Amino acid sequence: MCGIVGYIGGKAAAPLLLDGLKKLEYRGYDSAGIAVVNNGSIHAAKERGRLSALCSLTGDGKSISGHLGIGHTRWATHGEPNHVNAHPHISIGGMVALVHNGIIENYSELKQFLIKNGYSFVSETDSEVAAQLIDYYYKRQHDPVEAVRLAEKRFAGSYAMGIVFADREDEFIALRKDSPLIIGLGEGENFIASDVPALLKHTRRIIRLGERELAVIRKDGVTIFDKDSNTVKREPVMVTWDADSAEKGGYDHFMLKEIMEQPDAVRRTIAPRIQHGRVELGLKRITEAAIRSIERVYIVACGSSYHAGMVARYAIEKYARIPVTCELASEFRYIEPMIGSNTLVIIISQSGETLDTLFALREAKKRGAHVLSIVNVVGSSIAAESEDVLYTWAGPEIAVATTKAYSTQLVLMELLAVYLGRVRGHVDERLEGELISALSELPSIIEKLLEDQAGLKALAAESYMQRDIFFMGRNIDYALALEGSLKLKEISYIHSEAYAAGELKHGTISLIVPGTSVVAICTYAPLLDKMVSNIREVKARGASVIAIAAGEEHRGKTGANHEIILPGCADIALPCASVVPLQLFAYYTALMKGCDIDKPRNLAKSVTVE
Ligand code: M6R
Repeated sequence: MCGIVGYIGGKAAAPLLLDGLKKLEYRGYDSAGIAVVNNGSIHAAKERGRLSALCSLTGDGKSISGHLGIGHTRWATHGEPNHVNAHPHISIGGMVALVHNGIIENYSELKQFLIKNGYSFVSETDSEVAAQLIDYYYKRQHDPVEAVRLAEKRFAGSYAMGIVFADREDEFIALRKDSPLIIGLGEGENFIASDVPALLKHTRRIIRLGERELAVIRKDGVTIFDKDSNTVKREPVMVTWDADSAEKGGYDHFMLKEIMEQPDAVRRTIAPRIQHGRVELGLKRITEAAIRSIERVYIVACGSSYHAGMVARYAIEKYARIPVTCELASEFRYIEPMIGSNTLVIIISQSGETLDTLFALREAKKRGAHVLSIVNVVGSSIAAESEDVLYTWAGPEIAVATTKAYSTQLVLMELLAVYLGRVRGHVDERLEGELISALSELPSIIEKLLEDQAGLKALAAESYMQRDIFFMGRNIDYALALEGSLKLKEISYIHSEAYAAGELKHGTISLIVPGTSVVAICTYAPLLDKMVSNIREVKARGASVIAIAAGEEHRGKTGANHEIILPGCADIALPCASVVPLQLFAYYTALMKGCDIDKPRNLAKSVTVE
């Protein structure tokens, strides 16, 4: 998704902006641009495609002088990815330049208004309309804050913006609603960015701009105003991520690095929540009395987070005995969800910024539910708007394909299921102890699984030329099949579908022909025999099957062409172990195909549009 960087200080702005944008490349983009204010004018450069093109165009920024500027990587929404539609957008006359993440939904109506007032447009974007509207008010008010606020009053939609003015070399404006924006505080210099990695090289003192807050950024200070123009005092938070953890750390890809970080990430997520042999989550607002009165749970999320929710559904129903419905966030608002004060809505999001998920959260709140979020990014919009939040301590996840954030979501949701079960009287002390020790073994189980990757590399070498790969499983293994299939298709571009194994014969089995690859996940022992029958069915039609089972006693029992045998572990720990070979299989398959693993085509890390 789009990235924003802004700078004011004593250094040359352009090289610094380009460097910041490089750190945001992981968000996905299709064009990039910068604008720098110098001697009463705005100097801009934009290019379609990779940032390297913009670096070449500007001599790594050296051809543009000035100490104040904004930069942007764009992921096209309104208008195709090209030079004209790239940000920053500059008003006619060159007074205002703006970078924007989000969507101005009523831009057509605003455009008509501006055209009537003598404005003309070069791009198809909603963002250019925003720049021109600010210009319209600036001409009348000659005050940047006033002009931005007057324009903002007319915006419908979501926005994080950095705005510079040709005749203001000592300040620029940051503004946000629904899309994330942070301010980085330096010594004699200050920054804005859409995400932390862009700033780590320069500062760790970060302020997150709140909803509808506007900030005036000067080199020696920052003033923040709320939507009613009151000054907001907010202490910066210290970001503790080391700069390395936002880089590749010696691996070829962020995805592999993040896969390898899973033992630590899982350990960090579990450890602080186990106290005196009990699961303690430290919920601040959702009381135990409220938990006891819950009659229904909705788990709402997108993509892999939704798949984590599907695993959690089994755990919550099993240990807490509450009916659970798992909903895609993009559908949730349109299903008339049956929500009351005894409903718990659990929102899962790595980024905490996924717009569909954020809107689902707001819908749940509006309908009076308790809202608990499982989020990786501290202080993100979803975290900020939830009644209670539990953080997955996965650390920054850069690869578009989620791995460590997904596995930490799984363990955190399992802990939540145990906690809900205890509070509701279904999990006694003995069971809680057993479940905790099963989960606590996970980091060393994952470490073991990561030690030897040769077998998975070999399987990937056999599979990477396939046109289709099917995944199947039952119960928790079905939820895992969905995740394994998504992982594979998003980074290797191999067509893949996942099915509940019993469902295959209701249609999809017609696609199985000699040579088709099928990955059968059969770690859940109570249903192993049924999976063995399903493996037989597809093999009888000529499929080549890779089975993933758990426990040495099952070796050679699946009837598959290839077997991956995980160490035996309790059901509660199985999903987090089983996903590891699925991630590695996807990674090595994409590697063999020579794909752009960390930035797969058309995808973005954080999906901040509906
Ligand atoms: O940040 P979120 O967890 O809300 O993101 C949801 C999905 O976009 C995300 O899980 C996506 O499916 C993954 N990148 C897939 O690997």
